[in-house]
Amino acid sequence: MEADDLIKIATNAMQKAYSPYSECKVGAALLTKSGIVFEGCNVENASFGVTCCAERVAIFKAISEGETEFDAIAVAGGKNGVVADAFVPCGVCRQVMAEFCGPEFAVFVAKKDGYVKTTLGELLPLAFTSENLTDEGDNYER
Ligand code: THU
Repeated sequence: MEADDLIKIATNAMQKAYSPYSECKVGAALLTKSGIVFEGCNVENASFGVTCCAERVAIFKAISEGETEFDAIAVAGGKNGVVADAFVPCGVCRQVMAEFCGPEFAVFVAKKDGYVKTTLGELLPLAFTSENLTDEGDNYER
């Protein structure tokens, strides 16, 4: 599975967004190490804080289906379903990614034309993870 394919799947998933409040449509395509792709879209709520981002929807769908190991995620988003430049994952989604993925986890973010590639390590350096709850310390170099 190439980055371009994942971006296409994320861009299609955007159109399923339930986002009457922000009118931003976001889609995500999460690639498991076993080669399965889970899609997600943002799901808003009249009680705004209840909203769930596309990335977390995709991750939670995968976890609930027994998949816990991931290689990459692609994200596409923009107002009214038109892909904007670099609609990057929010901080909450980065933290959820860090629960299941290491710093090398690839994050492809759609642009109007193409995409940018980054990693979870770049998006969330010095992440707080389960390692920090043990005496052994963390899994990131300082
Ligand atoms: N949103 C996502 O789905 N993913 C992100 O990483 C950023 C924000 C959604 C949440 C909300 O429905 C809308 O975009 C505007 O914040």
